[in-house]
Amino acid sequence: MLFVRLLPALVIGPVAGVWADRFNRRTTMVVTDVIRFGLFISIPLMQTLPWLFAASFLIECASLFWIPAKEASIPNLVPRNRLESANQLALVTTYGFGAVAAVVFSALSFVNRVLAHEFSFFRTNPVNLALYLDALTFLVSGLTILGLSELSSARPRGLAAEGAQQPGVLTSLREGLKFIGGVRWLRGLVLGVSGATAAGAAVIGLSRVFANDLQGGNAAYGVLFGTVFVGLASGMFLGPRVLGNFPRRRAVGVAIMGSGGALAVDAVVPNLALAVLMTGLLGFFAGIVWVVALTLVGSEVADELRGRTFAFIYNLMRVVLLVAVAAAPFLAGIIGPHTVSVQGVHVRVDGVTVTLFAAGVLAAAAGVVCLRLMDDRGDIPLRTDLLAAITRRDPEQGRGTRAGYFLALEGGEGAGKSTLARRLATELRDRGYEVVLTFEPGDTAVGTRVREVLLDRSSAGISPRTEAMLYAADRAQHVSEVIRPALERNAIVVCDRYVDSSRAYQGGGRALDDREISHLSRWATDGLQPDLTVLLDIDPEEGLRRASRVGATDRLEAETVGFHRRVRAEFLTLARRGRHRYLVVNAAEDPDAILERVLGRLDEEALPDLPAGRTTMTIPLAEAPQ
Ligand code: TYD
Repeated sequence: MLFVRLLPALVIGPVAGVWADRFNRRTTMVVTDVIRFGLFISIPLMQTLPWLFAASFLIECASLFWIPAKEASIPNLVPRNRLESANQLALVTTYGFGAVAAVVFSALSFVNRVLAHEFSFFRTNPVNLALYLDALTFLVSGLTILGLSELSSARPRGLAAEGAQQPGVLTSLREGLKFIGGVRWLRGLVLGVSGATAAGAAVIGLSRVFANDLQGGNAAYGVLFGTVFVGLASGMFLGPRVLGNFPRRRAVGVAIMGSGGALAVDAVVPNLALAVLMTGLLGFFAGIVWVVALTLVGSEVADELRGRTFAFIYNLMRVVLLVAVAAAPFLAGIIGPHTVSVQGVHVRVDGVTVTLFAAGVLAAAAGVVCLRLMDDRGDIPLRTDLLAAITRRDPEQGRGTRAGYFLALEGGEGAGKSTLARRLATELRDRGYEVVLTFEPGDTAVGTRVREVLLDRSSAGISPRTEAMLYAADRAQHVSEVIRPALERNAIVVCDRYVDSSRAYQGGGRALDDREISHLSRWATDGLQPDLTVLLDIDPEEGLRRASRVGATDRLEAETVGFHRRVRAEFLTLARRGRHRYLVVNAAEDPDAILERVLGRLDEEALPDLPAGRTTMTIPLAEAPQ
C-alpha cells in the first residue's frame, strides 16, 4: 500500500518538476485544473469503485504537475517583500481548510436533503453534490489562472530562446539535482525540512498508542492528532510575525531545533495536558519551517530552476512523511514495553517513548546541521540575533555584503602599522585590485574634527566614557561613509585601527568594561567586523621609543607605560579569542618579512575570490557559488 501511494510521487514527481521549468506554467496549471474538473465530475457519473480508484490516482498525478508550476509562479506574481505573506496565505488556505471543509460538508448534506425532495438524482447518492462542488472549484481555479495576464508570458525566464535546442528531460533532471546538491544552503534546507517532517510524522503515526499510554482514550488521540495541525496552521499564520526581522536563513534551523526539542520533551512527559502543549509547539515550529523554507526557495532560486527545486522538496517530503508514519509504529512495536528501575524508581522505556524521543533528538540534530549549512551570518553570533528578535529590535547588519575584503591593522604605539598599511596597499594595487587605504580616528570630514578633540593634549580632562563614545562616533561615520561603500564596490579595505583599538585602549587601558565597549562598537558599526585583523605586537617601551622619534606625542601616547602594557595584553587576548580571524606578527621582525607574511595569508583566504582589475561585480544570491 505504501509503495503504491509513493509511486506517483517518485516516478511522476521529478518529471513534473522538469515540466514546470520548461513549459508555460499558466497553461500547465489551467490544463491540469480542467483535467481535474473532468475527473471529479466523472466519479459520480461513472459510479463504479474501480473508476473511483483510477480517477483518484489520475487526480493525484495531475496535482503533481500543478503544484510545482504554482509554487514556481508565485514569486513572479508578487514582489519579493510580499512573498512571505503570499506563501502564508497559500499555506493557510491549503492546510487550514480542513476545518472549513468539514463545515461545508455538513451544510452540503443539508442542502442535499432539500434537493433530494425535488430530484431523484440526489436521493441515490448524497455524496455527489460534494463531488460536483469539488469539481467546480477546479474549474474556478482554472478560469482564475487563465485570467492572470501577468503569467501569460510565463515561459520560465532564462530558458533557451524560442526554437533553440532544449536539453532532454533527463538532462534537465540531472541539472536540477546537481543544482540542489551544489548549493550549500539548499542542502541544509532539504536536510532540515526532512528532519522536521519526520518528527511530525512520528507523532502522527504514534499518536494513537501514545494517547493510550497517557491513559487517554480515543478523544485524547483525536486531540493529539488535531493539535499537530492546529500547531502547524498557527505556525504558518503567526510565524512570520513572531519572527519579526529575525534572519530567515537562520530561522529555518532554529525552528527545526525547536520542533525536535518539543518532540523529545513530548516523548517523556507523563501528562496528557503537557503532551498536548508540546505537540502543539512541535506543529507550530514545523509550520514556521515550512513558510520560511518556501519563501527562501521562491525568492532565492532562479526562475528556470524553481519548478524542479520545489518538485524535489515536495516529493521528498511525501516520501519522508509516508515512510516515517509507517515506520514509527513499527519501530515502537519492535522495542516493545520495558521498564527499567533506577535506584528503585521505575522509568518507562517503552517503544513509543523511545521512538518519539529518538525522532525528536534526530530532528534537533538535523536542525543544528541545517543551521550550519544555511548560515550566511557567520560574523554575528546566533545569540545576538535571538536577543534582537526577542527585544523586537532590528538584527545587526554585520558584513552585509559578500563582496570586498576588510583587513584591519592593529597594534600599540610605534608598531609600524601605517608603514605596513601603505606597503600593502601599493603591493595590492600593483596586482590590479582596488584598495581603499584608511584609518581611525579621523578619516572623514566629521571624523577629522572628532580626532582633534580626541588627540589634542588640551583635552586632558576628557572622561573615559566620553573618550569611548567619541571613538565610537568617529567609527560609525567611518563605517557608513567609507568602509561599507568600498566593500560594496568589491574593494579591499585596509584600515589602520578599528574596533579592537577601542577594546584595547578604552577597555584594557582605561579599564572600562570590555563588554560595554564591544557593545558600543557593535552598535556604531552595525556589526561590521573585519575579515582579518593583523596584530603587530610590540613591547610598549620599544614602541613608545619608536613613536617619539617620529614627532610630538599625542594625548594617548603620553599615557604611562603601565597603560600601554594593559593595551598590549588586551590586544593579545582578543587575538587569542578570535583565532582564525587574526594574524599576530612580531613587530620587531624585518618589515619585508612581515609584508610577505600578510600577503601570504591574503593569498590563502581572500584574494582568489576577488576579481582583479577595477571591475565591480556583485554575485546575485541565487547563483552565488556556495
Ligand atoms: P594615531 O596617531 O592615528 O595613532 P597610531 O599611529 O598609533 O595608529 O592616533 C590614534 C590614537 O588613538 C592611538 O593612540 C590609539 C588611540 N585609539 C583609541 O584609544 N581608541 C580607538 O578606538 C582608536 C581607533 C584609537
